[in-house]
Amino acid sequence: MPPPRDRLIVALDLPTVRDAEAMVERLGDSVTFYKVGYQLAFASGLSFADTLARAGKRVFLDMKLHDIETSVAKGVENVARLGVNFLTVHAYPQTMKAAVAAKRGSGLKILAVTVLTSYDDIDLAESGYSMSVDALVARRAQQAHDLGVDGLVCSPEEASPLRLAVGNDMLFVTPGIRPQGSARGDQKRVTTPSQAIAAGADYLVVGRPITEAGDPRGAAEAIVAEIAVAAK
Ligand code: C5P
Repeated sequence: MPPPRDRLIVALDLPTVRDAEAMVERLGDSVTFYKVGYQLAFASGLSFADTLARAGKRVFLDMKLHDIETSVAKGVENVARLGVNFLTVHAYPQTMKAAVAAKRGSGLKILAVTVLTSYDDIDLAESGYSMSVDALVARRAQQAHDLGVDGLVCSPEEASPLRLAVGNDMLFVTPGIRPQGSARGDQKRVTTPSQAIAAGADYLVVGRPITEAGDPRGAAEAIVAEIAVAAK
C-alpha cells in the first residue's frame, strides 16, 4: 500500500490552467497526486497534465473513454505516452479489453467506471437497461476484473461488497469524500476519509473540500493525517 500522502488524489476541477497552476503551487508538497477531468482537459489541461507528470506529480486523467475498440486503443496508447498514472474508461467489455491491451508495457493503470453514481434504477430503465444499478455494478465490476482492468472507481458504500466480489487485486478509487464538518456540495451520499479507508478504498478523490478551503494546504494535510490514522 502506498504511504498515506500518496493515497490522496486532489481533483483539479478548475476553469483554467492558470487556476490549476496556482492551486498546485499553494498545495506544494502536501499533495502528490492530481486528477484532471473534462473541465480542465478542455482548457489546455492535457498539456498541463503532462507538465505535472514531468514535475514528478502523479496524474489521474478522468476521461471516461468509450468508443469503438480501435479508437479506444489509439487514444490509450497516446495517454500512456503522456506518462500519466490512471485513466478512466466506461466499463463496457469491448472498451475495457481495448484499453487493457493498449496500455500493456506502460505504467498506466486503467480504472473502470461501472455505473455513474448519478444514475438510479429509473435512469437505467430510461437508458434501455432492465437491470438494477446494484446488479449492473456487480456485473461490470466482475467483467472488469476478468478482463484485467487495474481498478474501479466506486462510491465508498460500494467498496465493501465489491471487494468481496473481486478480491484484493483491484485498486479502488473513491470520490464523494467529505471530512467531518465540510460542505456536501452536490454530493448526495458522502463518506469521511476514515470511513472510505475502512471500507477498502485504496485512493480517495477529494476536490472542493480542498480546492475551496481557505487554507487548501491545511485541508490536504488534515486529510492525509486522517488517512494515516485510519490505515493503521
Ligand atoms: O469536489 P468533489 O470532492 O465533490 O469532487 C469529486 C470529484 O470526483 C469530481 O472531479 C467528480 O467529477 C468526481 N467523481 C464524483 N463521483 C463519481 C465519479 C467521479 O464525484 N461517481
